[in-house]
Amino acid sequence: MPTEAAIAIQQLSKSYEESGRRHRIFSGLNLEVSRGEFIVLLGRSGSGKSTLLNLISGIDPPDSGSVIINGTDITALSEHGRTLFRRHHLGFIFQSYNLIPTLMVAENLLLPLELIKPLTQTDRDKVEALLNKLGLADRSDTYPDRLSGGEQQRVAIARALIHDPDLILADEPTGNLDLETGRQVLALLDTLVKKAGKTLIMATHSREVIGQADRIVSIRDKSLVSVDEFRP
Ligand SMILES: Nc1ncnc2c1ncn2[C@@H]1O[C@H](COP(=O)(O)OP(=O)(O)OP(=O)(O)O)[C@@H](O)[C@H]1O
Ligand SMILES: [Mg+2]
Repeated sequence: MPTEAAIAIQQLSKSYEESGRRHRIFSGLNLEVSRGEFIVLLGRSGSGKSTLLNLISGIDPPDSGSVIINGTDITALSEHGRTLFRRHHLGFIFQSYNLIPTLMVAENLLLPLELIKPLTQTDRDKVEALLNKLGLADRSDTYPDRLSGGEQQRVAIARALIHDPDLILADEPTGNLDLETGRQVLALLDTLVKKAGKTLIMATHSREVIGQADRIVSIRDKSLVSVDEFRP
């Protein structure tokens, strides 16, 4: 059903099977996120933050419930349909980067563009400009395994943003960055939300990030709760 919200999560449940046993991660999660909202997702390690982001992105299917993005119920799409939807609408910054080891930095960024349409010089210029913005201008012809953790994280961020998605999901995107670089990355993401109207959901433990969010939610006891104790 069409909805005004950028994201509507309805009665979402997920469990994993482990040695023949069902291990419930969470159940009955509900959340509505407006366009242009910056949501911080908290929860202890193992509470299911990455799992939830994987469901919102359509990388994994839920056991039950739905995820509606810009009016499209992605949980009703085939796996291929979800992949196509993701390519066009979503930028995902993975906790473990997931860069393609056989592609150089610039090629890692060109790939999401190439999956949408044939590459042009404008695309190459865009890649160069974004790498420049993230302090990676001289790393474009390097393979990911030659980069530091923080450099890989910034490449992962650039790759998630290069196709200008309206929704950005970020899993601990500043976890491996020094304070100053983390601030720059946060400022970039914050600008995308405030000026370009992007919607951002970020899993993080960083107090600094928490302070900039429009809203804070947390996974507790397998449910999603609103949090305001971090507010000044
Ligand atoms: N593919 C999988 N198969 C089985 N169990 C899984 C799978 N993925 C995640 N889990 C389990 O689901 C639970 C939640 O994991 P998840 O990675 O979502 O936590 P998290 O909140 O992101 O933690 P962290 O803060 O450490 O990143 C964990 O107990 C984990 O072992
Ligand atoms: Mg995680």
